[in-house]
Amino acid sequence: MKNTVATFAKMKANGEKISMLTCYDYSTAKLEEAAGINAILVGDSLGNVMLGLPDTLSVTMEDMITYGRSVARACHDTMVVIDMPFMSYQVSVEQAVMNAGRLMKEGRANAVKLEGGAAVCPQIKAITEAGIPVVAHLGLTPQSVNALGGNRIQGKSEEAAKKLIEDALAIEKAGAFALTLECIPAPLAQLITDKLSIPTIGIGAGAGCDGQILVYQDMLGLFSDYTPKFAKHFAALGKQMKEAFAAYVKEVQAGTFPAEEHTFKMDEDVLNKLY
Ligand code: KIV
Ligand code: NA
Repeated sequence: MKNTVATFAKMKANGEKISMLTCYDYSTAKLEEAAGINAILVGDSLGNVMLGLPDTLSVTMEDMITYGRSVARACHDTMVVIDMPFMSYQVSVEQAVMNAGRLMKEGRANAVKLEGGAAVCPQIKAITEAGIPVVAHLGLTPQSVNALGGNRIQGKSEEAAKKLIEDALAIEKAGAFALTLECIPAPLAQLITDKLSIPTIGIGAGAGCDGQILVYQDMLGLFSDYTPKFAKHFAALGKQMKEAFAAYVKEVQAGTFPAEEHTFKMDEDVLNKLY
C-alpha cells in the first residue's frame, strides 16, 4: 500500500518507527522499495555523493528533477520526497510554490523537503496550501554551511536549543507533515519529538526520533570522502564493488572474459561467404 502523509501520521500515533533512505536512481530505488522502506528522499546530498561537489549549493532544479523522476518511476508503495535545492525557495513565496510544483509535475514527487525554520514558514504554508506536502529540515542544514561555519552539531547551547524548539513548533504550525532533524543532541531531538504531533525523522539525532534517515552510500560503505559519526555501515559494498571491478579488469586482460556463454554465434555458411 502506498505510504502517504496519512501513513506517517498514523505511524507516529501508533509509535511505529518510520524508515527512510536517500536514493537518486531507478535501480537502487527498486531495491529500497523491495526492502520495505516507507519513504525515499531524493536529497540534494546528490551534489556530494552523485556529482562529487564539496557541498549542496550548486545543485539545480534540473538535477533534482532528473534524479527525482528516475526514482519515482521505481516507486509504487514508497513515498517519494524530493529536496528543494538551494535558492529554489528562499527568495520568495511565489518562487517556492512554483518550484515545489515543478518537483511534483516534472519530478513526480509525492512531497518536497526544504531547510529552515520560522524564516521559511510562509513558504511551507503556501506550498502546503497548494496541495503539496512539505517535510521541513532543522539542525544542521547543509545549504547554510557557509553561515553555520561548517558541518557541525547544532543546538548544544540553551539559546540554540530554544531556537530549534521554537522553529520546530513554527514549522508544524505552518503545515509541514514531518520534520528532519540533522546532527543535534539526542536528548534535544527527543524533546522536540515529544512536543510535536508530526513525526520527526532523525539523522545524527538519536533513537528518540519517530523515524530515521541515512544517505544510502553512507550506510552501504560506498562513499569514502568522509564518514560522519552517525553513518553506520550496514554493508561494505564499496569493497565488494572494487573487487568485482578488479576481477573484470583481470579477466579482460587475460582474455578469459567473455566466455562461450556470453558470446553470440553465427551460421558457418554465412560466415564462410564473408571470408
Ligand atoms: O540531502 C539529504 O540527503 C538530506 C538528508 C541527509 C536528510 O537532506
Ligand atoms: Na538535503
